[in-house]
Amino acid sequence: MRMIIFGATGLVGTHMVNKFKDSYELLAVGRNEKRLNKLHKIGVNTLKFDITSDYDNYSVFDEYNDCVVINCAAAVTGASENTLNDVNILGTEKIIRKVNELNARLIHISSYTIYGVNGSDYTEVDKFDGGTKYAESKYIAEKLVIDNCDKWTIFRPPFIGGPFDENVLYNFSERIKKHRMPLIGDGYLTYIDARDIATITEIVLTDDRSVKQIYNIAGETIKLSEFIDLLGGLLGVEKPYGKRYPYFLIFSIGSILDFIARIRGKNNENSISRYRIKSLTSDRTLNTEKVITQFKFKPVYSIKQSIIDWINETSKS
Ligand SMILES: NC(=O)c1ccc[n+]([C@@H]2O[C@H](COP(=O)([O-])OP(=O)(O)OC[C@H]3O[C@@H](n4cnc5c(N)ncnc54)[C@H](OP(=O)(O)O)[C@@H]3O)[C@@H](O)[C@H]2O)c1
Repeated sequence: MRMIIFGATGLVGTHMVNKFKDSYELLAVGRNEKRLNKLHKIGVNTLKFDITSDYDNYSVFDEYNDCVVINCAAAVTGASENTLNDVNILGTEKIIRKVNELNARLIHISSYTIYGVNGSDYTEVDKFDGGTKYAESKYIAEKLVIDNCDKWTIFRPPFIGGPFDENVLYNFSERIKKHRMPLIGDGYLTYIDARDIATITEIVLTDDRSVKQIYNIAGETIKLSEFIDLLGGLLGVEKPYGKRYPYFLIFSIGSILDFIARIRGKNNENSISRYRIKSLTSDRTLNTEKVITQFKFKPVYSIKQSIIDWINETSKS
């Protein structure tokens, strides 16, 4: 059995490679040479390839007929509008074309960001309510998969962490270590460890009921303040981790920064933005009944364990 993993050098991709490297003939695709070299050293076939490029010069893909393609490649929140468009939309479009040429089965990693920040207990049939360019790009990518592909499964995870994380746990930690974690209101954080995403992928690949299906997948949901305390405590950082700000003040600052970014033609999604403040102060929870009922899937990594494993892995490198 053969498999191509796009985004194999990222957080989710790394754990997909770990999960499938012994059971599939793998092609791990990414751009980061250091990470690709590490994968090569453990016996995985690697390819340095930008998903926005032309596939014509890369005949290696033709060896993967009837394979499984896992798409974990993406530009994340805060990337410029052009990059989000190029990678998340055009890049996905090109992957879909290749998937169809290869008669492959596609597992596409999307995000719960497409539900927006104004609700809770979201189910797979809830409508798009984006609010950011990133959310929009992920939604358009999903639509491309659904409309143009035959054998697809889409996952919508919330915040993802675990060993090798360089986004969620890393960014929160940096703020906590500098005692610059703004404390505002008290929303909830829904989380899943990347290793659990690899596990549910393995499960759905053995069950055809998952074809043409979207699944919310999530582990624990905890209050944001509890998450910050847990992370700060495990990092051994003394409290306070930051200042407490009144919601209206920080929301006004977010509005001003959004406005300045807009007139400068920049993307403010990675800074203090209204969307970000809302996302950290809302009850954005995911309903995961569908994946639980169909596959009895229960993530095994608690947030605490996930952070501990991340800290241990980070201290090695
Ligand atoms: N992290 C989260 O909290 C979160 C939450 C919900 C959904 N998601 C989704 O989950 C998926 C995986 O995310 P992640 O956390 O694993 O992200 P990540 O660690 O940032 O990894 C992103 C991957 O995409 C690759 N990539 C980006 N642009 C590329 C391009 N032009 N050509 C080829 N490869 C490119 C990167 O390759 P190089 O590093 O080699 O450049 C990397 O392997 C994404 O679809 C993301 O939208 C993430």
